[in-house]
Amino acid sequence: MTLYEIFKDLHSGFRYVVFILVLLAIIQSLMGWLGNKPYTEGNRKINLFAFISAHTQLLIGIILFFLSPNVQFNSETMKNATTRYFTVEHWVMMLIAIALITVGYIKAKKTETSVSKHKTIAIFYLIAFLVIIGAIMAGHLSVLGAN
Ligand code: HEM
Repeated sequence: MTLYEIFKDLHSGFRYVVFILVLLAIIQSLMGWLGNKPYTEGNRKINLFAFISAHTQLLIGIILFFLSPNVQFNSETMKNATTRYFTVEHWVMMLIAIALITVGYIKAKKTETSVSKHKTIAIFYLIAFLVIIGAIMAGHLSVLGAN
């Protein structure tokens, strides 16, 4: 197994850790917001773990960027859907999602009331989750679609 394959498998598998933690954070914050519940230490920890998982995926992604044969900088890059997706589109969309999670976590930390903390996490993490799903779907279309 090459270093590229190890990081590709790690990055590919780690997506599920990110999915589960971000989804858990969204569900509990929606319940907290709509049910007017207190913002507990347990809530804060799930939100923090989701934040850490996104940042870990970012680090693995940056390493993969330098190892992947699908990341290329030449005159053909933008003509081929797969290389265009992994060289440009994938990381830009994922970076936007990770930035949303980061801003949401920091804003929630700064606001005073439990409801506003839940609301901030719910909105920012939900948009980030949709961007991640959209990016992965766009990737599948690019890789499977006509090159
Ligand atoms: C929440 C953030 C992210 C998620 C959920 C995610 C998810 C994925 C998934 C599902 C794949 C497909 C792997 C496969 O073929 O099975 C992939 C590939 C890849 N990702 Fe990410 N990614 C994220 C962020 C990033 C970032 C920030 C970068 C770069 C800075 C990056 C760089 C790459 C590269 C280069 C590949 C191509 C691997 C190949 O050669 O096939 N990813 N990512």
